[in-house]
Amino acid sequence: MELTVTEKHELYERSVQNPGSDIDFIYQVFNKLFNRNPKSLREDFGGTGYMACEWVKQNHENTSYVIDLDCEPIEFGKKTHHAALNIEQQSRVKYLESNVLAPLSFDVDVTVAFNFSYFIFKKRSELKEYFQKVYNDLPQGGIFCLDLFGGEDAYELSEEETEHDEHSYFWDCDKFNPLTNECLYHIHFKKHSDGIKHEKVFTYDWRLWSNIELREILEEVGFGSVLSFWEGTDEDGDGDGNFYETISAENCESWVTYLVGVKK
Ligand SMILES: C[S@@+](CC[C@H](N)C(=O)[O-])C[C@H]1O[C@@H](n2cnc3c(N)ncnc32)[C@H](O)[C@@H]1O
Repeated sequence: MELTVTEKHELYERSVQNPGSDIDFIYQVFNKLFNRNPKSLREDFGGTGYMACEWVKQNHENTSYVIDLDCEPIEFGKKTHHAALNIEQQSRVKYLESNVLAPLSFDVDVTVAFNFSYFIFKKRSELKEYFQKVYNDLPQGGIFCLDLFGGEDAYELSEEETEHDEHSYFWDCDKFNPLTNECLYHIHFKKHSDGIKHEKVFTYDWRLWSNIELREILEEVGFGSVLSFWEGTDEDGDGDGNFYETISAENCESWVTYLVGVKK
């Protein structure tokens, strides 16, 4: 039996999203740069708008926009995250079914493109067009936050299983072309209740962009400073969830981190 739309999005969010820690990171960076809290957020490739809905809970002045071209995650997000907010909080979140490249303009403190969604742009010219649009739409003093991943595991053709309380999440690298960095990833889920593995619930046909390529394009479109972050480690050598700014890091098999473009 196929997963329902609700199950599919719930499993996805429980497996890969942690909007609370992303928001903490953004608050820290923004405060360090401008000595104030950010108030407005644009969540590009926002899917269900999980983060945008968490954002308005942080402060009664916070506002957010969710942009996604697929109505399915938007409808799920409206029925769950948005419906769970009180009426006043709901009025501060706007969902837009749109391409991120469409000529929409928002005056926000922070734009985010998380869970590597901008990897969908495979050509440099396409990615640059997107970054240029984000830059143009931000006010001076606005920031653009992206996440990215890498390490040799990122392009090894293998399937990695992560156990959660009620399900397993599988990240499957199906194809990687070393000449173009194009890659094909799938997400599979297995619910422990019935033991059925649901294959290819989500598929991503992406280009694996590197930190330095992204930095250079961000600088080219105008970001006056581009900050690279790296995760600290605990005594066992595992990531500790604390990200610090740096331009040099130790190579490791698998990493996920942030980049921040600052419009000066
Ligand atoms: C990997 S999901 C990210 C969902 C969520 N933001 C997260 O952090 O997990 C990518 C989302 O981007 C959307 N998407 C892909 N291309 C897009 C585009 N050009 N404009 C707007 N949304 C797009 C897809 O519909 C999908 O919901």
